[in-house]
Amino acid sequence: MTVRGFRASIARPAAALWVELTEWHRQIYAAPEIGGDDPGAAFDEHLERIGPENLWVAEEGGRVVGLAGLIRGGEDLELEPVVVSESCRGRGIGRALAGAVLAAAGDAPVIVRPVGRNAEAIRFFHSVGFDVLSRVELLRHAWDRWQPAERIADRVFRA
Ligand SMILES: CC(C)(COP(=O)(O)OP(=O)(O)OC[C@H]1O[C@@H](n2cnc3c(N)ncnc32)[C@H](O)[C@@H]1OP(=O)(O)O)[C@@H](O)C(=O)NCCC(=O)NCCS
Repeated sequence: MTVRGFRASIARPAAALWVELTEWHRQIYAAPEIGGDDPGAAFDEHLERIGPENLWVAEEGGRVVGLAGLIRGGEDLELEPVVVSESCRGRGIGRALAGAVLAAAGDAPVIVRPVGRNAEAIRFFHSVGFDVLSRVELLRHAWDRWQPAERIADRVFRA
């Protein structure tokens, strides 16, 4: 497995990974509407926003199996997205992608903002060094699909 910079010739498989990320969010929330009708278009917008020099892919046997990006320009640098093709997870590819992004960030602080229900991603981020709870974004929302999930500051929050 090799981590390389993004290039236009692998835009389609990279967009397919972005779609896989959207599908993961649809699955964990049982909400097929997440990401709209054309989640691949959101990848193009992200690429345009962060620039190809801030995207990395993991390749294995000529196949693109992972994607990660670095958002610059905000108050903090942000690792977004990071996704590994489902059949290739658990083999260190996510760690290698995060490593490429963090190397590009240098000594600057980097944030991640996983959705509250994505406990797998939160465990992954913790494993690769994101062990500071910097701030918490709370939501008041009447959606019936939020489920009791996490205890923070001695209170249970739905996610
Ligand atoms: C999160 C994701 C990128 C991790 O990629 P991966 O290639 O499976 O991760 P790695 O194999 O490199 O694992 C790195 C570390 O994270 C841990 N980890 C990864 N997935 C984990 C999980 N589901 N539960 C607990 N720990 C996990 C591993 O145990 C490993 O830690 P270790 O080295 O101390 O053993 C991948 O599961 C994925 O694409 N998920 C769907 C997309 C997503 O949720 N992205 C984040 C959105 S914010």
